[in-house]
Amino acid sequence: MIGHYSDLAGKTILVTGASSGIGRAIAIALAHQKARVVITGRNSERLQETMQAMGGEAILIPADLTMREERERLIHATPALDGVCHAAGIIHPFPIRYIDEEQFDKVFNINGRVPILLTSRLLGKKKVNKAASIVFISSVSSQRGMKGGSIYSASKAALEAFSRAITLENVDKKIRANCLRPAMVKTAMYDQAKAYTEAVGAIANYENHVLHHSLGEGTPEDVAAATLFLLSEASRWITSTSLVLDGGLSASI
Ligand SMILES: NC(=O)c1ccc[n+]([C@@H]2O[C@H](COP(=O)([O-])OP(=O)(O)OC[C@H]3O[C@@H](n4cnc5c(N)ncnc54)[C@H](OP(=O)(O)O)[C@@H]3O)[C@@H](O)[C@H]2O)c1
Repeated sequence: MIGHYSDLAGKTILVTGASSGIGRAIAIALAHQKARVVITGRNSERLQETMQAMGGEAILIPADLTMREERERLIHATPALDGVCHAAGIIHPFPIRYIDEEQFDKVFNINGRVPILLTSRLLGKKKVNKAASIVFISSVSSQRGMKGGSIYSASKAALEAFSRAITLENVDKKIRANCLRPAMVKTAMYDQAKAYTEAVGAIANYENHVLHHSLGEGTPEDVAAATLFLLSEASRWITSTSLVLDGGLSASI
């Protein structure tokens, strides 16, 4: 078990991107805390696998969150929430000189626009309880350049900027919002990013640096552990901030 937060037992928490990687690890970790977890993603089969790994108990709502009707269906079906973790996202590496509206929208939509609109509608529909905690999975890329990752970095930076106004506007309800900034974590997204960085000749340097100058690579469970902390009352005084999860990598460059 990744830590133990007794206050999470019985809390209702929505996890997006729960069909894979980091979102799946977060959903499983929440199930171990005995939270009531609402899981969403596009792929129903992989969501079912997540639910099995959670011990068979979850509220499963498949949805393509870039589609307004599907977001609305999710918001309607979800019970009032004590926590939300926005983990859905894509990387889609692309060189700056070839960015067009289609490429821009593809990345910004699910990484930036969707978590912003979903948060807004959940608050507007009174689906966010008092003292709820909202966690956005950002990235170290929000603060750093990455070949092919310019739109990805921009989308995560936009998300972080948005998150800082949530408590300001909901201080009466003591709603908190924080971001996590992981470095690269081995998931399906890692493989996509790796294929691109290999093609532009940057991966060997990166992996060598991680090996010799940091605590090594992180896992989805490392991100889940930090998410549990931010969702629990143990972090009740922490809001509108971003936590770096990179084993010391950014301090060593
Ligand atoms: N892996 C890393 O190195 C790393 C580092 C820093 C930050 N992050 C961030 O961590 C989050 C999770 O990434 P990951 O590594 O776990 O990636 P992943 O394994 O590729 O998972 C991405 C998740 O996003 C969901 N998703 C994508 N498009 C969607 C859409 N249109 N509607 C609904 N769900 C959608 C996918 O669900 P379906 O396929 O079922 O639609 C999947 O569950 C992302 O926000 C990512 O930017 C990852």
